Amino acid sequence: MKSPELYFDNAATSWPKPPAVVKSLEVYDREVGASAGRGAYPRAQASGEILAGCRTALARLMNAPDPRRVIFTLNCSDALNLAIHGLPWRRGDRVLVTPFEHNSVLRPLHALKVRRGIGIDVMPVDADGRVLVEKLPGALKARTRLIACVHASNVTGVIQPVAEVGTFSRRKGILFLVDAAQSAGAIPIDMQAMKIDLLAFPGHKSLLGPLGTGALVLGKEIDLDPLRQGGTGSLSEIEVQPDFYPDRLETGSHNAPGLLGLWEGVNFVSKRGVGAIRRHERALLDQFMEGLSSLSSVRIFGPSHSAHRAAVVSLRWGEEDPRRTAARLWERGRVMVRAGLHCAPWAHKQIGTFPQGTFRFSFGPFVTSKQIDRALAALRTLNK
Ligand SMILES: Cc1ncc(COP(=O)(O)O)c(C=O)c1O
Repeated sequence: MKSPELYFDNAATSWPKPPAVVKSLEVYDREVGASAGRGAYPRAQASGEILAGCRTALARLMNAPDPRRVIFTLNCSDALNLAIHGLPWRRGDRVLVTPFEHNSVLRPLHALKVRRGIGIDVMPVDADGRVLVEKLPGALKARTRLIACVHASNVTGVIQPVAEVGTFSRRKGILFLVDAAQSAGAIPIDMQAMKIDLLAFPGHKSLLGPLGTGALVLGKEIDLDPLRQGGTGSLSEIEVQPDFYPDRLETGSHNAPGLLGLWEGVNFVSKRGVGAIRRHERALLDQFMEGLSSLSSVRIFGPSHSAHRAAVVSLRWGEEDPRRTAARLWERGRVMVRAGLHCAPWAHKQIGTFPQGTFRFSFGPFVTSKQIDRALAALRTLNK
């Protein structure tokens, strides 16, 4: 009999999802079916209530100032694009970023650099990759308008001191964008206490919602230009996009079945508690890192202490191409991990694994201690 599959690619998307999330598509079809904001009949109203419920649940979980400023997007990349391209840039403006940003931040910034002449500067970090907050004043330029910071790296897992960077940004009057792709639902986020102006996250990773969901949350004082114009179901008599949120930034029919699933995912996370999920994932990390320490062929990247990393572990097996190692792990133990650059080439340049990258384990709330043992057993077979 074949051994069961072991899914360790929760950093790409979480799997499995809670039963209520899996059911949501069917529930939506049976009980709702209609499109939000497109009718006064009860089914269309029910769809609108799902959107409102999901916004409120997300705002509560992240301590966002206003649920109407929770803007639904296709995924985290879409949210980051909306934030970056929606700001009023002027030629010569600059952005300060960490060396661990994902391509979903780097590529929109590169496009702005080419089209609008903005400049990009990089924050200094310590040996673990943590931003050196005390050195931030030296990294600022006169025209720095935005600080963009990935909360947790999807390559090394390193967690950035977001609250300290946010306090610094606010003091300097610079906007603060956080990419919470690897933290939303897995590491506590308090948007107001952390002084975050723009918070981008996917619904389909640690918030346990379906693929095709995500959000950008705006702080109270933030205004963005819409990237798309069109039907909103509101103010149909005027030619311009409505100026109120969320309609200003949400064009076209919503992914309401997906957002019902996201709402169920957020309810699951809220009920279990982000703190409890974090403790579970840290215990898995501790067990995994302890097991790895007896494997002489393995190289581990990123912080050695689980307090400083999300549930993401990047590895190399001697000098072997990480794609080959990932393929062998599948053959030996039906272990699913992702290999390569993980859409974060700068992070690999920073840790010295560019261009081959690493193979990456990433855990979630449904990963068990037994599965970690089996992952370690599969790794042990690699020398044979
Ligand atoms: C740090 C980081 N930012 C952004 C993204 C993009 O997320 P999405 O796949 O939801 O667009 C990811 C996804 O892997 C990520 O890890």
